Amino acid sequence: MNKPLGPSGEFKKLLRFAGIYGWSRAINKAIARTRPPWLRPLVFIRRKPAISVIGCGQFAFSCVCYYLKKQIGTAFLSAFDTDGQQARSLSRYYGFREVTTTPDALLNNPDLAVLYVVSNHASHTAYAVEGLTRNKIVYVEKPVSVTRQQLVRLCQAVRQSSGQVFAGYNRPYSKAIQLLRKRVDSSSEAAGFSISYVINGHQIPSEHWYRNAEEGTRICGNLGHWIDLTIHLFFWRSIPDWIDIQIAYANPNEPDDDLTVTFTTDRYDIVSILLTSRSEPFEGISEFINIQYNDIIAHIDDFRRLTIWQGAVKKVWRFWPKDVGHQRAVMQPFLENNRNWLEVELSTLLMLFIRDMVLKRQTGLRFNTHQELAGFEADLQSASLLYPPFTHEKNS
Ligand SMILES: NC(=O)c1ccc[n+]([C@@H]2O[C@H](COP(=O)([O-])OP(=O)(O)OC[C@H]3O[C@@H](n4cnc5c(N)ncnc54)[C@H](O)[C@@H]3O)[C@@H](O)[C@H]2O)c1
Repeated sequence: MNKPLGPSGEFKKLLRFAGIYGWSRAINKAIARTRPPWLRPLVFIRRKPAISVIGCGQFAFSCVCYYLKKQIGTAFLSAFDTDGQQARSLSRYYGFREVTTTPDALLNNPDLAVLYVVSNHASHTAYAVEGLTRNKIVYVEKPVSVTRQQLVRLCQAVRQSSGQVFAGYNRPYSKAIQLLRKRVDSSSEAAGFSISYVINGHQIPSEHWYRNAEEGTRICGNLGHWIDLTIHLFFWRSIPDWIDIQIAYANPNEPDDDLTVTFTTDRYDIVSILLTSRSEPFEGISEFINIQYNDIIAHIDDFRRLTIWQGAVKKVWRFWPKDVGHQRAVMQPFLENNRNWLEVELSTLLMLFIRDMVLKRQTGLRFNTHQELAGFEADLQSASLLYPPFTHEKNS
């Protein structure tokens, strides 16, 4: 494990982050970690508060609320976190109208219109279902579910609700992927994708909550991003009938820290995801993605640069600040042309399938897409008999 950085290391990191994300976001990320109680920015409330947040940790502070405030101003209603201090510090900084001591108090506020669920992984589904049952607009961070039962319950609520649901998977909303989409001719059913992801992930300490058994492993916590992006790309064309999954583990005792997952499909796709975390990346997670499809070769360099070669034409885009799609993903409840929820259903089914393989240290299995979807649909039909309603006590 890496040693603590110390003040000069922290300062260097701030400078480096400012170079990547711009000063405003870099400083905000630093404030999110320290949350000094004396820092009380002046908050001008111009809109009726209607946005509430459950889970007030690092990502809620440095990303979700940061972009909401930047894009639509302050319209924050209620904050809830099982750690009251987290909720109070988020509320103080962003000018929430109230901090609630129970999720029910937040959920039952009649002014609530848009709910952001940014808590630990195991609790996402239950909160999202509660929001949907009240016909609210719900943004739920990734992973949307960490068990099949949860996914069934969530998708049942999605189908029954007159509210809306959006997932926090952001890579499909990155400028690089959106630019690529405009140039890809996906009319040919016959063409296969070749995709390679190299991901330098964070080192996660053994005592971190991501490691708790019920949180779904790093497959749900991290790898899900690139499983989901792959499914998103497949949807541009059409989804394969089957996906053959091969997994190689560097260390079977820590199976989700350093591994490769590969897919081959009946459409002649080939995909490889290497997630590795042998040392802590000073600049945060970095991602290098190569995509070949039809006449296109694309290279995404950590979402800071995109190069597309198409025949004789070469085009390069640089993104500053780095754009992994966070802002656009957070803004889904307020924008049109969002992705199809069915993509998230399928990517979560596939992610859970792979998570189960990893827990059993399996190395090769076939995911029969249509069979899995049909089985899932059958579960949805019978789900109301199987799953009791949510209570906070069961969730916490
Ligand atoms: N989309 C992305 O790129 C991205 C990046 C980072 C984190 N995230 C996601 O954001 C979420 C939060 O991650 P984080 O990095 O902020 O973690 P964090 O540990 O900083 O924050 C989690 C917060 O949830 C609170 N919490 C725990 N259990 C709770 C419960 N049952 N009810 C309410 N609050 C509860 C904790 O007290 C903590 O304040 C996770 O789902 C994570 O995967 C997404």
